[in-house]
Amino acid sequence: MSKAVLYRRFGGPEVLELQEIPEPHAAPDEVRVRVTAAGLNPMDWQITTQPDMAARFGITLPAGFGSDFAGVVDEVGAEATGFAAGDRVYGAAIGRSVADFVLVKTPAATLWPTPAGIGDEVAGTLPVSGLTASAALAALGLRAGDTVLIGGAAGGVGIFAVQLAKLAGARVLGTASEGTFGFLRELGAEPVAYGPGLADRVRALAPEGITAATDLFGREAAETALELGVAPERVTVVADGPAPPPGVRKMGALDADPGALERIADAIHAGEITVPIAATFPVERIREAVTTQAERHAHGKIVIAL
Ligand SMILES: NC(=O)c1ccc[n+]([C@@H]2O[C@H](COP(=O)([O-])OP(=O)(O)OC[C@H]3O[C@@H](n4cnc5c(N)ncnc54)[C@H](OP(=O)(O)O)[C@@H]3O)[C@@H](O)[C@H]2O)c1
Repeated sequence: MSKAVLYRRFGGPEVLELQEIPEPHAAPDEVRVRVTAAGLNPMDWQITTQPDMAARFGITLPAGFGSDFAGVVDEVGAEATGFAAGDRVYGAAIGRSVADFVLVKTPAATLWPTPAGIGDEVAGTLPVSGLTASAALAALGLRAGDTVLIGGAAGGVGIFAVQLAKLAGARVLGTASEGTFGFLRELGAEPVAYGPGLADRVRALAPEGITAATDLFGREAAETALELGVAPERVTVVADGPAPPPGVRKMGALDADPGALERIADAIHAGEITVPIAATFPVERIREAVTTQAERHAHGKIVIAL
């Protein structure tokens, strides 16, 4: 037997159950990963609460939970390619990552080797957030001389976006609540409080103006950037919600360049990007972990240990 987090009806964290299930085995074209860490993303609990979102990902009840994972390949089907038993890997498996075992069909588009020197706790946070941050910024074409406003800069996507923007040579202003300012400064961003009056506060911080923006929380930072004269093609958003203003692009993990995650992993390995882990919960405390994540005030990533 093995463990997996499952739910049988849609709802909040209370529907999540840690269950004993028969141990799954790799089909001929699959590898099996023994998962040790699974980073959480808003999409995980959004899927459990929103049947229409679950349907978009082809998820039906009873369903598994989670998207990102890291661990070790421990079974390889006779026809599987690209990975061998014992390989450390990280990947994305939407609706089934918070489980002892994840099966991945090969050739695999969403399974990557974990570089030596990067722990599973960090590797298990990378796919959804890292790809999304990368796509949101790539669309802006940041370079030295840019001043970029990042909305929701201290969250799971924000920690990658801030550091990637810095690596591109940009000056980074990031929105957060005041209690988060020190955290953002350590990441390399100049903090600015979200909420009414944002445009005035950004003007005060950057009187010469801003040149690009990505909004990782809603639409406020995007609308502020437009108000401050940024061209819409240099503004992106990532969150579901109202249609973005005309000309502003909505980007997501699926829009990322295929090599984006390897570049982030290399930058982590080189010490150029850090991945703050806000909290790690044992899988037995999955409901508490999801409740914490859904409050939307995490600084960095929340991880489930298996
Ligand atoms: N389309 C895709 O492929 C894709 C992929 C990944 C994520 N997303 C979406 O991207 C969004 C961000 O994801 P995430 O993982 O970064 O979320 P997250 O980790 O939950 O974000 C938490 C952060 O949001 C900040 N925040 C809270 N209220 C805010 C407000 N009113 N304005 C600005 N920031 C606020 C918090 O800062 P304080 O603690 O200081 O308040 C906290 O640091 C989500 O909507 C998610 O669904 C989309």
